[in-house]
Amino acid sequence: MGDSAVAGSAVRLRPGTAADIPAFRALGEAVVPVTYGPIDAAYAQRMLDEWWIPEVFEKSLERNTHLVAERDGQVVALANLGRLARSYREFPHVTGDREVMWKLYVHPDHQGLGIGSRLLAEVEALVEGDELWLEVVDGNDQAYDFYLARGFVEVERVSDGRWPDDVWLRKSLGRTER
Ligand SMILES: CC(C)(COP(=O)(O)OP(=O)(O)OC[C@H]1O[C@@H](n2cnc3c(N)ncnc32)[C@H](O)[C@@H]1OP(=O)(O)O)[C@@H](O)C(=O)NCCC(=O)NCCS
Repeated sequence: MGDSAVAGSAVRLRPGTAADIPAFRALGEAVVPVTYGPIDAAYAQRMLDEWWIPEVFEKSLERNTHLVAERDGQVVALANLGRLARSYREFPHVTGDREVMWKLYVHPDHQGLGIGSRLLAEVEALVEGDELWLEVVDGNDQAYDFYLARGFVEVERVSDGRWPDDVWLRKSLGRTER
């Protein structure tokens, strides 16, 4: 993974571990409300309360691969990758399995510096099959545009009638020869 300089300060990517859970929570508190509050403030709060908690990170660390970006020794971004079949959530609309990037979050003070692009490239390198999938919350236009500019296409929208839709995106990694 290695180091790279961003605005004069080295950014280091490394695997995430249970020791990072407090930093994951702090990252969530910094990035989730500003990202999702304008879309649905109650949904942003639900995310923090139900998904950005130590118990869920412990389970996620057992099932998924986590990568963090550190800057000056601080965790400034998180990405993870895992198989849909191993998720604790249910996806009745899906037949078969998917390799999914469940999270890509960069601290607001460190966005726009290339860290998200680097983490995405590392996640893509870890994908075993030909496709990487992810969900974007409907209305998260910055992230949606970020992914479309990096080769993802929209495949489907999943609605539960209460919370904002999940928009599923897929990127073909062009590894059909493997
Ligand atoms: C979307 C996100 C992961 C991109 O990571 P990043 O490190 O900011 O992105 P990079 O610096 O590598 O690339 C910049 C690109 O992101 C876009 N971008 C998205 N959000 C941005 C922000 N807040 N600030 C600056 N650029 C942003 C820019 O338009 C730029 O796109 P372009 O290169 O196609 O023109 C990051 O901004 C983020 O964490 N956003 C909030 C949380 C989120 O929505 N996560 C995705 C959940 S599915």
